Amino acid sequence: MNDGIRHLLGLRELTAEEITEILDTAKSFREVIDRPIKKVPTLQGTTVVNLFFESSTRTRISFELAERRLSADVVNFTVSGSSVSKGETLKDTARNIEAMRTDIVVIRHSSTGAPHLLSRLLKSAVINAGDGINEHPTQALLDMYTMRSKFSTLQGLRVCIVGDIAHSRVARSNIFGLTKMGARVGVCGPRTLIPSYLDQFGVIEFYDIDRAIEWADVLNVLRIQLEREAGGQFPSIREYRLYWGINRQRLEKARKELVIMHPGPINRGVELDGDVADGQTSLILDQVTNGVAVRMAVLYLTGVRKS
Ligand code: CP
Repeated sequence: MNDGIRHLLGLRELTAEEITEILDTAKSFREVIDRPIKKVPTLQGTTVVNLFFESSTRTRISFELAERRLSADVVNFTVSGSSVSKGETLKDTARNIEAMRTDIVVIRHSSTGAPHLLSRLLKSAVINAGDGINEHPTQALLDMYTMRSKFSTLQGLRVCIVGDIAHSRVARSNIFGLTKMGARVGVCGPRTLIPSYLDQFGVIEFYDIDRAIEWADVLNVLRIQLEREAGGQFPSIREYRLYWGINRQRLEKARKELVIMHPGPINRGVELDGDVADGQTSLILDQVTNGVAVRMAVLYLTGVRKS
């Protein structure tokens, strides 16, 4: 077993075979969560701690549900009310919690590399739930699971990621994962938000959303980080919506059924109009449901294989 799946730090470190193993395992767990009794004893006796140093709705609840459905013991940590406010470091926080005999640590942190640091410090398996602008591997896995369920294969699928690619950990994990799985990846957004490193992955760059829509089978629309507007990295919200916002009129012009995805949370009426987000071709809530199954798979594969 290589280090990539003993911990799940990012998709950059995983092979196509390891990604396939996670997606195939998630398929079995998806069947479990569709049953009336959504629980299996797989991680009985295993203790999982969720360390969330940054806000989250979907990822935090999804991990907790996944852990409980695998019968693990679950401990939740959030910064507010913790000794972080007294100046305790990440290293001390994590080592003290692990001294209480935890087995798996799930971490979200605003600093790139926080999960990698813990993987070197702790005996526990470490799962990255989003680190800075680096990676959000379980989001990309659930995105790929959702696309594979819809299209049967990722091979040759044309996926365009729309929005702030430069600051998006979701975009990076999707690019690493999808290209390994044989999908064709495009990105679309303002030039200031498209990073220069994409050439090495064969990613196609679009600056015109209508051309991106013509090309793609799937649009994975990212949240525009409104707080970044002040930094002048893209025009006004109004202009963003005008040039890159996904709306019904744009999609109808393309005269084809395009699958719409979004990792959430959505800025309705900015990057994505509400009627499209809730429309027939939207898989946004399927992504959320599949996320529990994918996280069960990741917990299972790291939890049962920890050394
Ligand atoms: N997609 C995602 O990571 O959402 P949360 O920030 O709510 O966890």
